[in-house]
Amino acid sequence: MEVIITPDPASAASLAAGQLAAQLQAKPSCVLGLATGNTMVGIYAELARRHRQEQLDFSRATTFNLDEYVGLAPGHPCSYASFMRTHLFDQVNLDPRRINLPDGMTADVPGFCAHYEQAIEAAGGIDLQLLGIGRDGHIGFNEPSSSLGSRTRIKTLTPLTRTSNRRHFPPGDDVPMHVLTMGVATIMEARRCVLVALGAAKAAAVKAAVEGPVSAMCPASALQWHPRCTFILDEAAAGELALADYYRFAHEHRPAWQR
Ligand code: GLP
Repeated sequence: MEVIITPDPASAASLAAGQLAAQLQAKPSCVLGLATGNTMVGIYAELARRHRQEQLDFSRATTFNLDEYVGLAPGHPCSYASFMRTHLFDQVNLDPRRINLPDGMTADVPGFCAHYEQAIEAAGGIDLQLLGIGRDGHIGFNEPSSSLGSRTRIKTLTPLTRTSNRRHFPPGDDVPMHVLTMGVATIMEARRCVLVALGAAKAAAVKAAVEGPVSAMCPASALQWHPRCTFILDEAAAGELALADYYRFAHEHRPAWQR
């Protein structure tokens, strides 16, 4: 597991965007796993800038988003489909036929979830999965107690997550109780995972994920088993890590071929 501590959120966003851009350049037809949330805003803005100014090409890529609220249609302003259109899809040259999100309006949840898993497999699997982390250690919407062997399915949000995500909904609108999310095992099958965490509110979750025991109580801790996983943190999110100085040292002294 690689832990990179950056000085501020802008540096973290630029580093994460650089990793996605490198993936796109190395394999233009790659499959990207995408995430939502405030953490992703700066990353997508940087990708959009690279597309505009440096011709970063998305035209052959395929994308799969991690999750969506049940009951919100893609046109709903608080849906993750809307978030993705605003921050990325309308800003770059992805082919709409190769953009995939869980369908929060499906009438057949188990059927749709099985189809989503099959679609990921048919696309050749995810090359790079971008992740944020919830304050309770969730990845995607895999809340604490999620099976580490879980696949795409419906989940019930915890009160903490519903409270945290309240800020994205207009006053008076309820945060949905249910969501569709890739499972922990679905995420773990990505060839590479890049988790980005910003701010002191994430420090405890980051500590549990990176240095705690592997436990369903912190689904992000499953990433300790991932053979190619990078945590990109700002100073505040790294604030509780016992080995922070070691991670800095290791990053500064990594061999030339790893740079
Ligand atoms: C939601 C998403 C997660 C994301 C988390 C953190 O719960 N389902 O994928 O990691 O929000 O969001 P933020 O970046 O806004 O803190």
